[in-house]
Amino acid sequence: MTEAAAPAGQAEQSPSEESELKLNRREFLNIAWLASLGFLTLSLGGITILFAMPRFREGEFGGMFTAGTVGQAPAVNTTPENFAKLKFWLSNTPEGLMALYKVCPHLGCLYSWNDQEFKFICPCHGSQYEHNGDYILGPAPRSLDHFVIRIEDENGTVLAQTPTEGGPVALPDNPNAVIRIDTGSRILGETHG
Ligand code: FES
Repeated sequence: MTEAAAPAGQAEQSPSEESELKLNRREFLNIAWLASLGFLTLSLGGITILFAMPRFREGEFGGMFTAGTVGQAPAVNTTPENFAKLKFWLSNTPEGLMALYKVCPHLGCLYSWNDQEFKFICPCHGSQYEHNGDYILGPAPRSLDHFVIRIEDENGTVLAQTPTEGGPVALPDNPNAVIRIDTGSRILGETHG
């Protein structure tokens, strides 16, 4: 019996050439598979790193902020210090220090301090608050919100901090201790009536 001739213009492949071709195809698929696996691993690694990174940097609103030292804090019962960019007022009351969130809990306006009346007043609908953020009058449903404060000594040891239920922090007797405000930890003001 005679073997069929290969079509004109097409070279006949020997069995070894055929297996070499199959091997190349297999190698190509292996490389493609390894490449996709590598890409997937890199993507997952990148996502993990992104999630592990802090969302806010030191000194930005939403992160930690150093508001000077205990010796630099406003004196008790004096005009609160305005940290406009970080959106809080630092108010030193007879009970301790408060970092009051600048946004009115009624409808979100920025309230301001009134030195003559010695209280905070919201320009939008007239809600008023004490020096320590307590609600006085107006349509606001609660007292002012405040941020967690941590007072640390030169070695980073925490000397005092806002209690978990919120409220003022008594200042330690160390003028060099630093006042750290966590603008990512907001405690809601107490609701009234
Ligand atoms: S937003 Fe402040 S009283 Fe309405």
